[in-house]
Amino acid sequence: MESLLDVENVSISFIQYTKGLNQRNLNVITDLTLDVKEGEILAVLGSSGSGKSLLAHAILGILPENANLNGNIKYNGKTLSQKDKEEIRGKEISLIPQSVNFLDPLMKISDQAIGYTENDDEKAEKKAKQREIFEHYNLSSEVDDMYPFQLSGGMARRVLVSTALLSSPKLVIADEPTPGLDEKTVKETLNHFRKMKEDGVGVLLITHDIHAALEVADRISIFYSGYVIEIAQTKDFSGDGENLLHPYTKALFKALPANGFELTKGHQPLHGEIPEGCPFYDRCEMAFEKCKNERPKLISLGNKKVRCFKYGEGGEDGT
Ligand SMILES: Nc1ncnc2c1ncn2[C@@H]1O[C@H](COP(=O)(O)OP(=O)(O)OP(=O)(O)O)[C@@H](O)[C@H]1O
Ligand code: SF4
Ligand SMILES: [Mg+2]
Repeated sequence: MESLLDVENVSISFIQYTKGLNQRNLNVITDLTLDVKEGEILAVLGSSGSGKSLLAHAILGILPENANLNGNIKYNGKTLSQKDKEEIRGKEISLIPQSVNFLDPLMKISDQAIGYTENDDEKAEKKAKQREIFEHYNLSSEVDDMYPFQLSGGMARRVLVSTALLSSPKLVIADEPTPGLDEKTVKETLNHFRKMKEDGVGVLLITHDIHAALEVADRISIFYSGYVIEIAQTKDFSGDGENLLHPYTKALFKALPANGFELTKGHQPLHGEIPEGCPFYDRCEMAFEKCKNERPKLISLGNKKVRCFKYGEGGEDGT
């Protein structure tokens, strides 16, 4: 399968003003590399505040003004400039936003889904397509004339999903699509992603819900303190987790209720307090000398990636 999106060594930081006029760089995301292929669901799994929405906004070119972005974001093998991002946003790449607050409270649902068009024929065509997709997502014609406050949580989610699909995108970025939804609506939402995948769409599913990721993703990219520490095949989250590579990923797997809820001590260091060496050093039971002062790089091992000195050339296990 062709790679649709390649995020290469992306870092996002903010200038933070401390006492007096001192400033320091607050790195939220560091050296982030991942890719999404056609007809694939890649989940990005990270805790709250780990920079997941910033990643989505970096791809779409809608980062806040005070953010510094470094690295490369490629679509179909071509590096995207800010202008390119603006051109393909809402067309080839669309966002299912994290919050229903992205909906304009003063605009009727159908009007905001279609967007502004001067040409009457084009407008009629868009309207017909909107109705067709909305129908498919179980949104009856009354919904078209409603305002956002009149929608239930599930309906609002379906509006966001169908609006994102109106432009027939090749890549969909879904930012936390499941929180606050009842079980039935979560199932329904995840089914939408399966359907997109069947249609050849690439999906970047941003979530802190490991269950959602395990249910639909082909691969899972795991964030820790702003670093991708592993990109695993979803099927490797099975058995005793023996095919998972990073100690944190293994710990996450063991913490699942079905695997005994074994929690790792300590907490994930936040931006500004990340140790000099491996970000997982303080909690790692396998740490060795080198891990304290040197930061491991993300390396490829077959069809997986990992950021840990235990693996790769010169790794402790000599692989
Ligand atoms: N405009 C900004 N200025 C300074 N720091 C910011 C700004 N926007 C975000 N941040 C920092 O970036 C961090 C990551 O934000 P982001 O919204 O991407 O997290 P997230 O992983 O999407 O969290 P959640 O799961 O809660 O949605 C925040 O915790 C905050 O410290
Ligand atoms: S690099 Fe060292 S500290 Fe970090 S996860 Fe691997 S073994 Fe543990
Ligand atoms: Mg977010």
